[in-house]
Amino acid sequence: MRPHVFVNAAISADGKLSTYERRQVKISGPGDFRRVDRLRAGADAVMVGIGTVLADDPSLTVKDPALVAAREAEGRDPHPVRVVVDSRGTLSTGAAVLHRGPGLRVVGVSEAAPAERRRALGEHATVIVAGRERVDLRLLLEGLHDLGVRRLMVEGGGTLIASFLTERLADELMVFVGNMVIGGATAPTLADGPGLSSSGPFVGLDLEKVSPCDEGVLIHWRVKKEG
Ligand SMILES: NC(=O)c1ccc[n+]([C@@H]2O[C@H](COP(=O)([O-])OP(=O)(O)OC[C@H]3O[C@@H](n4cnc5c(N)ncnc54)[C@H](OP(=O)(O)O)[C@@H]3O)[C@@H](O)[C@H]2O)c1
Repeated sequence: MRPHVFVNAAISADGKLSTYERRQVKISGPGDFRRVDRLRAGADAVMVGIGTVLADDPSLTVKDPALVAAREAEGRDPHPVRVVVDSRGTLSTGAAVLHRGPGLRVVGVSEAAPAERRRALGEHATVIVAGRERVDLRLLLEGLHDLGVRRLMVEGGGTLIASFLTERLADELMVFVGNMVIGGATAPTLADGPGLSSSGPFVGLDLEKVSPCDEGVLIHWRVKKEG
């Protein structure tokens, strides 16, 4: 059993998540910021890859106090479980995601993570070992499900999103497309990783909704189970 998984990201008009320096860029505006905060507040857990933690050091907390209060009124933790995917357990014990705001944290590592790193991270988070060299996302999702996670929001970056899509582990894809071009062949895109070959099958999407948001467009897709 795995949680329902939805991916959310903001990209430039040319499909970039950030710049070639891999620095966070403000792609969306206040309307999208509030939408993302609501999505987080509605999730049981929020996940990023270690690349995003290294680039942005996000806290992944819910920002709006009213949304935090609503979660608490329902008997939930103020913030969703924060999950970092980090095969070798390299996450700094000083990372914001481990310290800002109360609540459970999970670090998904592989068997390649040294014992002392697992121990150090275990002082701040629940460590789930999934996979031999790289984190096996399917196993990690099962582990999260066992912890009670039923709705998982995946926030990036491009390498992690690509794995979720190509391994058919994502159910929904929400993309805010901003009114700018970032460019750069090496700048992260929505779905990086090795990519699929021309023989496919590609990851098929069903269009759910398109709506204007801030100075851009929000596109909501459902991920086809096959093809
Ligand atoms: N615009 C947006 O909405 C948005 C959102 C988030 C991030 N970003 C940007 O995205 C960039 C970071 O993206 P990124 O691609 O470098 O990093 P990422 O996707 O956050 O993390 C990728 C890393 O996760 C680890 N990982 C472990 N198991 C994995 C698996 N099964 N599948 C995929 N990854 C796995 C790998 O490192 P190990 O093998 O070492 O574990 C991999 O290199 C930054 O520039 C950030 O600003 C933008």
